Amino acid sequence: MIEDGLDLVAGRLRRARRVTVLTGAGVSAASGVPTFRGAGGLWRSFRSEDLATAQAFERDPALVWEWYAWRREAVASARPNAAHHVLAAWSRRCSGFVVITQNVDDLHVHAGTLGLVRLHGSLWELSCWRGCGAPPWRNEDVPLPELPPLCPSCGGLARPAVVWFGEALPSAAIDAAEAACECDVFLSVGTSSVVYPAASFLARARSRGAFTVEINTEPTPATDQVDLVLAGPADELLPQVDQRLA
Ligand code: APR
Repeated sequence: MIEDGLDLVAGRLRRARRVTVLTGAGVSAASGVPTFRGAGGLWRSFRSEDLATAQAFERDPALVWEWYAWRREAVASARPNAAHHVLAAWSRRCSGFVVITQNVDDLHVHAGTLGLVRLHGSLWELSCWRGCGAPPWRNEDVPLPELPPLCPSCGGLARPAVVWFGEALPSAAIDAAEAACECDVFLSVGTSSVVYPAASFLARARSRGAFTVEINTEPTPATDQVDLVLAGPADELLPQVDQRLA
């Protein structure tokens, strides 16, 4: 049964000129990075929606920074898994291939993915909370020497340079993602499909005629909308699709 699905996806990919893959935290699960929802998704008793907001940071920057310090620690030792490697190989092989990611762990970058669209920024970039004008800067210190970290320009609080709930996504990333919805095949991989606008791209691609596929270990709100569901771990299923393309 799953074999039929794998053959079908491989056949569609072989004939496609443009392929877009939207990824979420599930793609990094096999690398040991905790997801946001589902098993192990909570940090202490907090949901990501409780902490990843400007209001939460305003209220308690130390708490929000503790959460990010914990995530940076989990990600620091993580290496790309087979799912990242397959997607990176496809990005190098085909010019019409785009990976749009919601992940801030940079594992697609480490795998060597070309033309990656990062919707939510990176855990390893910081910016000035006050907006003093300093450009965002890279900080890969684990652990952070001071918590909360400070802006090197003005000495005020630094914040993670990621997109929080209620904040606008970088316009270049949105434009690139919307353009990539014009494709022949759209794969939604390892995302719970509940956070917008990322969750809207699948329907947009489908309405433009793309063959849509979901790869996930659990059903999501996208499951009923796609042309094909491959139920299982991305780190196992993507290599199996790749084998069929060889
Ligand atoms: N392979 C495929 N899917 C998996 C795997 C795996 N090995 N392990 C878990 N999953 C699935 C889960 O079933 C779940 O549907 O990955 C999904 C992870 O969902 P979330 O934790 O909600 O992650 P994501 O969809 O990326 O979240 C979106 O929410 O808090 C914000 O900004 C954060 O970018 C994030 C956004």
